[in-house]
Amino acid sequence: MEAKIAEITSEETLNIRHKVMWPSKSIDYVRISNDDKGRHFGLFINDKMISVISLFIVNKEAQFRKFATLTDYQGKGFGTVLLKEIMNIVKHNNLNKIWCNARIDKSKYYTKFGMVLTGNKFIKGGIEYVIMEKILD
Ligand SMILES: CC(C)(COP(=O)(O)OP(=O)(O)OC[C@H]1O[C@@H](n2cnc3c(N)ncnc32)[C@H](O)[C@@H]1OP(=O)(O)O)[C@@H](O)C(=O)NCCC(=O)NCCS
Repeated sequence: MEAKIAEITSEETLNIRHKVMWPSKSIDYVRISNDDKGRHFGLFINDKMISVISLFIVNKEAQFRKFATLTDYQGKGFGTVLLKEIMNIVKHNNLNKIWCNARIDKSKYYTKFGMVLTGNKFIKGGIEYVIMEKILD
């Protein structure tokens, strides 16, 4: 299986965001108000897009959001390939840190990428989140 990463439009992320993260809500629920200011990436297996992630850079801080892999393709390492690529991109951009609002049940996963939990937690849409970050040098 050949995995390829490509930059995509925010519109192209919507279907996977919706199916994987918020299937019970409308498609508009998975839009982000500043989607047009972000960079969006898709991972393709044999030309089928199976994972997406969006990156927003503000004041030398990068935030990744709406990271999702189609259910049938989860747990096979594809998300790791995509997130490593994002880590690589931010490394070469003279930024101070990368951070995310992590669903609590995913926080252990992100520690594998050098991200640490902050004390900042919140609940949104019935889901518990913790802010995680990695200081870049
Ligand atoms: C989070 C998410 C994007 C990760 O994508 P993924 O493609 O499943 O990621 P990976 O396959 O690289 O890793 C997932 C798990 O499988 C494990 N894994 C990776 N490759 C593996 C392999 N070849 N064999 C067995 N397990 C493997 C990873 O170690 C990881 O385990 P962990 O969660 O216990 O740490 C995906 O789980 C998802 O879409 N979840 C629902 C939406 C969501 O929660 N998004 C994130 C919000 S913070």
